[in-house]
Amino acid sequence: MIALIVAKSTNNCIGKNGTIPWNLPEDLAFFKKITTGHTVIMGRKTWESLPPKYRPLPNRKNIVITTQKEYVVPEGVDIMHNISEIPNLYPKTKRFIIGGAQIYKETLAFADTLYITEVHMQVDHCDTFFPDIDMLPWKVVAQDEKEHFSIITYKRK
Ligand SMILES: NC(=O)c1ccc[n+]([C@@H]2O[C@H](COP(=O)([O-])OP(=O)(O)OC[C@H]3O[C@@H](n4cnc5c(N)ncnc54)[C@H](OP(=O)(O)O)[C@@H]3O)[C@@H](O)[C@H]2O)c1
Repeated sequence: MIALIVAKSTNNCIGKNGTIPWNLPEDLAFFKKITTGHTVIMGRKTWESLPPKYRPLPNRKNIVITTQKEYVVPEGVDIMHNISEIPNLYPKTKRFIIGGAQIYKETLAFADTLYITEVHMQVDHCDTFFPDIDMLPWKVVAQDEKEHFSIITYKRK
């Protein structure tokens, strides 16, 4: 499985000033539960947006995508320079592409699953948006309604 996992607002916002513009512990708990024990793949900016105490994300293989050849990461974290390697990377594990916007856009074609948390709010002055994607090839396989958000799982048709 290669899944994109994202939380986005009603106006498709995913980030503002280098961080996520809401605090939803219940959604973070879902993210932790579903990704723990597996591989998480992220852009360099998302890596740098993680609070140092949560970096690398524990009990997960962390992979950071960057063009920078000398980029330094802690021991145990992998660097990737070429996103076309994703389909062959740790193929026996579940691979979760965890953002940000640039990486979602470039890797959607590799994904067979989408976990989209729809946050029921509008974000003003947003600077990072989830890309417009054609939802026709996707079907909803699960939907979990919470008070402030919904978690929708899609699989390719
Ligand atoms: N709401 C959510 O679910 C969610 C999830 C994740 C992130 N976010 C938010 O999204 C924002 C960050 O997203 P972003 O779009 O600005 O950045 P990003 O996608 O996290 O990272 C972009 C960086 O990834 C590297 N990169 C991208 N494509 C590459 C390629 N083909 N080959 C090699 N390296 C490549 C480049 O790093 P170099 O510049 O080092 O070459 C690029 O600058 C933050 O605000 C974060 O909080 C939100």
